[in-house]
Amino acid sequence: MEPIINNIDLPERLYLKFAKLVYDSAGIALGNAKRELVRSRLMKRLRALQVTTYEEYYEILAHHDGDGSELVMMLDAISTNKTDFFRENQHFQFLSETALPAIMTRNRTTRRIRVWSAGCSSGEEPYTLAMVLREHLDRSVNWDIKILATDISTKVLQFAHEGIYEEEKVKPVPVQYRTAYFDKGKNARGQVVYRAKPELRNLITFRRLNLMNATFPFSGAFDVIFCRNVMIYFDKGTQETLVNKYYKHLASGGYLFIGHSESLNSLKTPFQFVKPTIYVRNS
Ligand SMILES: C[S@@+](CC[C@H](N)C(=O)[O-])C[C@H]1O[C@@H](n2cnc3c(N)ncnc32)[C@H](O)[C@@H]1O
Repeated sequence: MEPIINNIDLPERLYLKFAKLVYDSAGIALGNAKRELVRSRLMKRLRALQVTTYEEYYEILAHHDGDGSELVMMLDAISTNKTDFFRENQHFQFLSETALPAIMTRNRTTRRIRVWSAGCSSGEEPYTLAMVLREHLDRSVNWDIKILATDISTKVLQFAHEGIYEEEKVKPVPVQYRTAYFDKGKNARGQVVYRAKPELRNLITFRRLNLMNATFPFSGAFDVIFCRNVMIYFDKGTQETLVNKYYKHLASGGYLFIGHSESLNSLKTPFQFVKPTIYVRNS
Protein backbone atom coordinates (compact mmCIF):
# COMPACT_ATOMS: atom_id res chain seq x y z
CA MET A 1 0.00 0.00 0.00
CA GLU A 2 1.24 3.53 -0.82
CA PRO A 3 2.10 5.68 2.19
CA ILE A 4 -0.38 8.49 2.90
CA ILE A 5 1.56 11.72 2.51
CA ASN A 6 -0.62 14.74 2.65
CA ASN A 7 -0.77 16.98 5.67
CA ILE A 8 2.69 16.41 7.05
CA ASP A 9 3.97 19.08 9.39
CA LEU A 10 6.99 21.20 8.47
CA PRO A 11 8.48 22.18 11.85
CA GLU A 12 9.90 25.69 12.05
CA ARG A 13 13.52 24.61 12.64
CA LEU A 14 13.33 22.49 9.48
CA TYR A 15 11.61 25.27 7.54
CA LEU A 16 14.55 27.51 8.40
CA LYS A 17 16.96 24.90 7.03
CA PHE A 18 15.04 24.74 3.72
CA ALA A 19 14.88 28.54 3.65
CA LYS A 20 18.67 28.74 4.06
CA LEU A 21 19.20 26.19 1.30
CA VAL A 22 16.93 28.18 -1.06
CA TYR A 23 18.68 31.44 -0.15
CA ASP A 24 22.17 29.99 -0.56
CA SER A 25 21.40 28.35 -3.90
CA ALA A 26 19.00 30.82 -5.59
CA GLY A 27 19.19 34.06 -3.60
CA ILE A 28 15.46 33.82 -2.85
CA ALA A 29 14.81 35.25 0.63
CA LEU A 30 11.74 33.41 1.91
CA GLY A 31 11.45 35.23 5.25
CA ASN A 32 9.47 33.86 8.18
CA ALA A 33 5.98 34.06 6.74
CA LYS A 34 6.28 31.52 3.92
CA ARG A 35 6.27 28.30 5.95
CA GLU A 36 2.84 27.10 4.74
CA LEU A 37 3.64 28.02 1.13
CA VAL A 38 6.93 26.12 1.26
CA ARG A 39 5.27 23.18 3.00
CA SER A 40 2.66 22.80 0.27
CA ARG A 41 5.07 23.42 -2.63
CA LEU A 42 7.59 20.86 -1.33
CA MET A 43 4.83 18.31 -0.77
CA LYS A 44 4.95 17.59 -4.53
CA ARG A 45 8.57 16.49 -4.19
CA LEU A 46 7.82 14.30 -1.17
CA ARG A 47 5.07 12.59 -3.16
CA ALA A 48 7.26 12.18 -6.24
CA LEU A 49 10.04 10.59 -4.20
CA GLN A 50 7.67 8.62 -1.95
CA VAL A 51 9.28 10.25 1.05
CA THR A 52 7.13 10.58 4.16
CA THR A 53 8.79 13.38 6.18
CA TYR A 54 10.39 16.74 5.41
CA GLU A 55 13.34 15.65 7.54
CA GLU A 56 13.99 12.75 5.17
CA TYR A 57 13.60 15.05 2.15
CA TYR A 58 16.07 17.53 3.60
CA GLU A 59 18.57 14.69 4.17
CA ILE A 60 18.28 13.72 0.49
CA LEU A 61 18.99 17.30 -0.59
CA ALA A 62 21.83 17.79 1.85
CA HIS A 63 23.62 14.44 1.57
CA HIS A 64 22.31 12.29 -1.30
CA ASP A 65 22.02 14.67 -4.24
CA GLY A 66 25.40 14.17 -5.85
CA ASP A 67 24.56 15.67 -9.27
CA GLY A 68 22.36 18.42 -7.80
CA SER A 69 19.32 17.26 -9.79
CA GLU A 70 16.99 17.16 -6.78
CA LEU A 71 18.06 20.70 -5.85
CA VAL A 72 16.93 21.80 -9.33
CA MET A 73 13.58 20.03 -8.79
CA MET A 74 13.23 21.63 -5.36
CA LEU A 75 13.86 25.12 -6.77
CA ASP A 76 11.37 24.36 -9.57
CA ALA A 77 8.78 23.60 -6.91
CA ILE A 78 9.60 26.67 -4.80
CA SER A 79 9.85 29.40 -7.44
CA THR A 80 6.93 31.69 -8.26
CA ASN A 81 6.45 31.80 -12.02
CA LYS A 82 3.52 34.15 -12.56
CA THR A 83 3.84 36.02 -15.85
CA ASP A 84 1.77 37.25 -18.81
CA PHE A 85 2.10 38.38 -22.40
CA PHE A 86 2.43 42.18 -22.59
CA ARG A 87 2.70 42.37 -18.80
CA GLU A 88 3.33 46.00 -17.78
CA ASN A 89 2.70 47.14 -21.32
CA GLN A 90 4.18 50.60 -20.75
CA HIS A 91 7.61 48.91 -20.95
CA PHE A 92 6.89 47.64 -24.45
CA GLN A 93 5.60 51.07 -25.46
CA PHE A 94 8.78 52.71 -24.17
CA LEU A 95 10.82 50.06 -25.94
CA SER A 96 9.19 50.66 -29.32
CA GLU A 97 8.83 54.46 -29.08
CA THR A 98 12.07 55.47 -27.34
CA ALA A 99 14.60 52.68 -26.77
CA LEU A 100 14.50 50.94 -30.15
CA PRO A 101 14.83 54.11 -32.27
CA ALA A 102 17.93 55.06 -30.22
CA ILE A 103 19.39 51.56 -30.46
CA MET A 104 18.73 51.41 -34.23
CA THR A 105 20.66 54.64 -34.70
CA ARG A 106 23.53 53.49 -32.50
CA ASN A 107 23.76 50.01 -34.04
CA ARG A 108 23.15 51.01 -37.66
CA THR A 109 26.51 49.69 -38.81
CA THR A 110 26.50 46.39 -36.88
CA ARG A 111 22.75 45.86 -37.49
CA ARG A 112 22.68 43.75 -34.35
CA ILE A 113 20.27 43.90 -31.43
CA ARG A 114 20.83 41.82 -28.31
CA VAL A 115 18.16 41.49 -25.64
CA TRP A 116 18.15 39.47 -22.40
CA SER A 117 15.03 38.39 -20.55
CA ALA A 118 16.48 37.40 -17.15
CA GLY A 119 13.96 35.36 -15.14
CA CYS A 120 11.84 34.66 -18.23
CA SER A 121 9.53 32.11 -16.56
CA SER A 122 7.26 30.30 -19.06
CA GLY A 123 8.25 32.53 -21.99
CA GLU A 124 5.51 35.15 -22.26
CA GLU A 125 8.03 37.97 -21.69
CA PRO A 126 10.62 36.94 -24.33
CA TYR A 127 7.88 36.12 -26.88
CA THR A 128 6.38 39.56 -26.27
CA LEU A 129 9.82 41.10 -26.78
CA ALA A 130 10.23 39.12 -30.00
CA MET A 131 6.89 40.40 -31.36
CA VAL A 132 7.66 44.01 -30.43
CA LEU A 133 11.11 43.84 -32.03
CA ARG A 134 9.72 42.24 -35.18
CA GLU A 135 7.02 44.91 -35.46
CA HIS A 136 9.10 47.98 -34.69
CA LEU A 137 12.49 47.42 -36.23
CA ASP A 138 12.97 49.08 -39.58
CA ARG A 139 12.07 46.28 -42.02
CA SER A 140 14.25 47.72 -44.77
CA VAL A 141 17.29 46.70 -42.74
CA ASN A 142 18.12 43.05 -42.19
CA TRP A 143 18.50 43.21 -38.40
CA ASP A 144 20.35 40.43 -36.61
CA ILE A 145 18.12 40.02 -33.54
CA LYS A 146 18.88 37.65 -30.68
CA ILE A 147 16.92 37.33 -27.48
CA LEU A 148 18.45 35.34 -24.65
CA ALA A 149 15.83 34.07 -22.19
CA THR A 150 17.06 32.54 -18.93
CA ASP A 151 15.58 31.15 -15.76
CA ILE A 152 16.64 28.95 -12.87
CA SER A 153 13.63 26.66 -13.30
CA THR A 154 14.01 23.86 -15.84
CA LYS A 155 10.27 23.20 -15.75
CA VAL A 156 9.30 26.67 -17.03
CA LEU A 157 12.13 26.67 -19.57
CA GLN A 158 10.89 23.42 -21.10
CA PHE A 159 7.40 24.91 -21.39
CA ALA A 160 8.73 28.19 -22.82
CA HIS A 161 10.84 26.39 -25.39
CA GLU A 162 7.76 24.60 -26.75
CA GLY A 163 5.94 27.93 -26.97
CA ILE A 164 2.42 26.48 -26.74
CA TYR A 165 -0.16 28.52 -24.81
CA GLU A 166 -3.82 28.03 -23.94
CA GLU A 167 -6.39 30.43 -25.40
CA GLU A 168 -6.88 32.24 -22.09
CA LYS A 169 -3.14 32.94 -21.87
CA VAL A 170 -2.86 34.65 -25.26
CA LYS A 171 -5.79 37.02 -24.62
CA PRO A 172 -3.49 40.00 -23.89
CA VAL A 173 -1.82 39.52 -27.30
CA PRO A 174 -3.41 41.95 -29.82
CA VAL A 175 -5.40 40.03 -32.44
CA GLN A 176 -3.23 41.13 -35.35
CA TYR A 177 -0.08 39.89 -33.52
CA ARG A 178 -1.81 36.63 -32.62
CA THR A 179 -2.62 36.04 -36.28
CA ALA A 180 0.83 37.03 -37.49
CA TYR A 181 2.95 35.23 -34.91
CA PHE A 182 0.98 32.20 -33.64
CA ASP A 183 -0.45 29.05 -35.20
CA LYS A 184 -3.82 28.06 -33.80
CA GLY A 185 -4.42 24.37 -33.10
CA LYS A 186 -5.70 21.87 -30.56
CA ASN A 187 -3.89 19.99 -27.83
CA ALA A 188 -4.33 16.30 -26.95
CA ARG A 189 -7.34 17.21 -24.77
CA GLY A 190 -9.04 19.00 -27.66
CA GLN A 191 -8.47 22.48 -26.19
CA VAL A 192 -7.63 25.40 -28.45
CA VAL A 193 -3.96 26.33 -28.13
CA TYR A 194 -1.64 28.80 -29.82
CA ARG A 195 1.93 27.95 -30.76
CA ALA A 196 4.51 30.65 -31.43
CA LYS A 197 5.56 30.46 -35.08
CA PRO A 198 9.16 29.49 -35.93
CA GLU A 199 9.95 33.07 -37.01
CA LEU A 200 9.35 34.08 -33.38
CA ARG A 201 10.84 31.00 -31.73
CA ASN A 202 13.99 31.27 -33.83
CA LEU A 203 14.78 34.67 -32.32
CA ILE A 204 14.93 33.28 -28.78
CA THR A 205 17.47 31.05 -27.05
CA PHE A 206 16.26 29.56 -23.76
CA ARG A 207 18.95 28.64 -21.21
CA ARG A 208 19.09 27.70 -17.56
CA LEU A 209 21.05 30.33 -15.67
CA ASN A 210 21.19 31.04 -11.96
CA LEU A 211 21.37 34.81 -11.49
CA MET A 212 23.38 34.16 -8.31
CA ASN A 213 26.34 32.92 -10.37
CA ALA A 214 29.35 35.12 -9.64
CA THR A 215 29.84 35.80 -13.35
CA PHE A 216 27.74 35.36 -16.48
CA PRO A 217 29.14 33.58 -19.53
CA PHE A 218 28.48 36.31 -22.12
CA SER A 219 31.14 37.99 -24.18
CA GLY A 220 29.08 40.64 -26.02
CA ALA A 221 27.00 43.42 -24.48
CA PHE A 222 23.20 43.58 -24.40
CA ASP A 223 21.21 46.55 -25.69
CA VAL A 224 18.28 45.77 -23.41
CA ILE A 225 17.88 43.72 -20.23
CA PHE A 226 14.48 42.85 -18.81
CA CYS A 227 14.65 41.58 -15.24
CA ARG A 228 11.13 42.08 -14.00
CA ASN A 229 9.45 40.66 -10.92
CA VAL A 230 12.51 38.59 -10.07
CA MET A 231 14.53 40.82 -7.73
CA ILE A 232 11.47 41.23 -5.54
CA TYR A 233 12.39 37.80 -4.10
CA PHE A 234 15.98 38.85 -3.30
CA ASP A 235 17.31 40.86 -0.37
CA LYS A 236 18.90 44.28 -0.87
CA GLY A 237 22.52 43.06 -0.98
CA THR A 238 21.68 40.41 -3.57
CA GLN A 239 19.76 42.96 -5.67
CA GLU A 240 22.68 45.40 -5.60
CA THR A 241 25.22 42.77 -6.68
CA LEU A 242 22.93 41.59 -9.49
CA VAL A 243 22.10 45.06 -10.79
CA ASN A 244 25.81 45.90 -10.96
CA LYS A 245 26.43 42.71 -12.93
CA TYR A 246 23.69 43.83 -15.35
CA TYR A 247 25.44 47.18 -15.70
CA LYS A 248 28.63 45.44 -16.80
CA HIS A 249 26.74 43.43 -19.42
CA LEU A 250 24.86 46.38 -20.95
CA ALA A 251 26.13 48.41 -23.89
CA SER A 252 26.56 52.14 -23.31
CA GLY A 253 23.06 53.56 -23.88
CA GLY A 254 21.51 50.17 -23.03
CA TYR A 255 18.34 49.95 -20.95
CA LEU A 256 17.39 47.95 -17.85
CA PHE A 257 13.68 47.30 -17.19
CA ILE A 258 12.58 46.09 -13.75
CA GLY A 259 9.19 45.09 -12.30
CA HIS A 260 6.42 47.49 -11.23
CA SER A 261 7.03 46.98 -7.51
CA GLU A 262 10.83 47.10 -7.77
CA SER A 263 13.19 50.08 -7.62
CA LEU A 264 16.93 50.80 -7.67
CA ASN A 265 16.43 53.80 -5.36
CA SER A 266 18.16 52.43 -2.31
CA LEU A 267 20.87 50.53 -4.21
CA LYS A 268 24.37 51.78 -5.00
CA THR A 269 24.56 51.52 -8.79
CA PRO A 270 25.79 53.75 -11.63
CA PHE A 271 22.48 53.38 -13.51
CA GLN A 272 20.68 56.58 -14.54
CA PHE A 273 16.98 56.83 -13.77
CA VAL A 274 14.84 57.31 -16.90
CA LYS A 275 11.37 56.84 -15.44
CA PRO A 276 9.98 54.51 -12.76
CA THR A 277 11.25 50.95 -13.41
CA ILE A 278 13.36 52.01 -16.45
CA TYR A 279 17.10 52.76 -16.19
CA VAL A 280 19.89 53.42 -18.66
CA ARG A 281 23.64 52.88 -18.71
CA ASN A 282 25.08 56.19 -19.86
CA SER A 283 28.83 55.62 -19.76
C1 LIG B 1 7.49 35.98 -11.21
S1 LIG B 1 8.52 35.31 -12.46
C2 LIG B 1 8.77 36.73 -13.50
C3 LIG B 1 8.58 36.42 -14.96
C4 LIG B 1 8.70 37.62 -15.90
N1 LIG B 1 9.98 38.24 -15.81
C5 LIG B 1 7.60 38.62 -15.65
O1 LIG B 1 7.85 39.68 -15.09
O2 LIG B 1 6.45 38.34 -16.00
C6 LIG B 1 10.09 35.18 -11.60
C7 LIG B 1 11.04 34.19 -12.26
O3 LIG B 1 12.35 34.37 -11.70
C8 LIG B 1 12.97 33.10 -11.64
N2 LIG B 1 14.08 33.12 -10.67
C9 LIG B 1 14.02 33.22 -9.31
N3 LIG B 1 15.24 33.15 -8.77
C10 LIG B 1 16.11 33.03 -9.80
C11 LIG B 1 17.53 32.91 -9.89
N4 LIG B 1 18.30 32.90 -8.80
N5 LIG B 1 18.09 32.80 -11.12
C12 LIG B 1 17.31 32.80 -12.23
N6 LIG B 1 15.97 32.89 -12.22
C13 LIG B 1 15.38 33.01 -11.02
C14 LIG B 1 11.83 32.17 -11.23
O4 LIG B 1 12.10 30.81 -11.55
C15 LIG B 1 10.65 32.75 -12.01
O5 LIG B 1 10.43 32.07 -13.22
